[in-house]
Amino acid sequence: RIAAAKMGGSADVLTSPPAQAVIGDPESLAKKKAAIRELGPAKLQVIADFDGTLTRYWIDGCRGQTSHGLLQQSDPVYDAKRQALYEYYHPLEYSPTIPIDEKTKLMEEWWDKTHSLLIEGGLTYNDIQKSVSNANIAFRDGVVELFEFLEEKGVPVLVFSAGLADIIEEVFRQKLHRSFKNIKIVSNRMVFDNGRLVAFKGKTIHVLNKNEHALDMAAPVHEQLGEGNGSNGDNMSVKKRTNVLLLGDHTGDLGMSDGLNYENRIAIGFLNNNVEESLKTYSEAFDVVFTNDGSMHGVLQLVSQLC
Ligand code: TMP
Repeated sequence: RIAAAKMGGSADVLTSPPAQAVIGDPESLAKKKAAIRELGPAKLQVIADFDGTLTRYWIDGCRGQTSHGLLQQSDPVYDAKRQALYEYYHPLEYSPTIPIDEKTKLMEEWWDKTHSLLIEGGLTYNDIQKSVSNANIAFRDGVVELFEFLEEKGVPVLVFSAGLADIIEEVFRQKLHRSFKNIKIVSNRMVFDNGRLVAFKGKTIHVLNKNEHALDMAAPVHEQLGEGNGSNGDNMSVKKRTNVLLLGDHTGDLGMSDGLNYENRIAIGFLNNNVEESLKTYSEAFDVVFTNDGSMHGVLQLVSQLC
């Protein structure tokens, strides 16, 4: 697959098996669905990862870009430096042999170095807009329909990413051409001064500490969506929504709902690559697993059975 993708050929598309939904424990899923349906949309919230979950892993035979990967700075030297970091750290991110505390330190190091290079290279908001318009990034089919359905039902969506909030928001603007009042992006947020990046706000979110951020992040969502905008009132308070639908593409994404004190959680995993090797782990960790870069239509179908 990767060889075909790198060559830009269509072999990947031709040889990809069709997407499938795998349910490890149908009885447990049925129970969770019934419990969530009983309390309805007023008690439900959705927490979704961004890269490889809301977005496609493959686009026309090439790997889709991530919010980090698509970024091009005015000075290409800084892109090369970030790419060198990616080549060193990305294999470590997926290494099954590095102990978790050691790996956490490595991830902190990677994120710190990347953020520093973005500041040092003088990233501008204009660079972000241009990078997104040139990017190979696309939402999965059915994402817009899912967001529309959830907006209509008044269900809040927290997009939780170790990527870059400002890029993700620009992707939403350019690729969806509309905004959703029920969606909040929780990710690493930039501070600009005169159009140039000067700092990042708050504590860094990397792939291994999403669980530590779940609770801190709930407060701003509560304030932003629940209070101060009149019409939604307390209805959008995520703390009172004890049923969770979680969408992710890594088992680490399951930590996104830690600390939320939920009553019922249905976890949906997108297994984008290494399907044979990882299906067992994924189908034990997630209630439903969509393989082979499937669309969001299966999730929409499931959500429509809950609301
Ligand atoms: P997430 O969006 O699934 O939360 O994870 C962010 C991804 O970003 C993670 O898989 C590693 C990747 N990444 C880059 O591609 N370049 C970078 O410079 C950094 C820090 C992360």
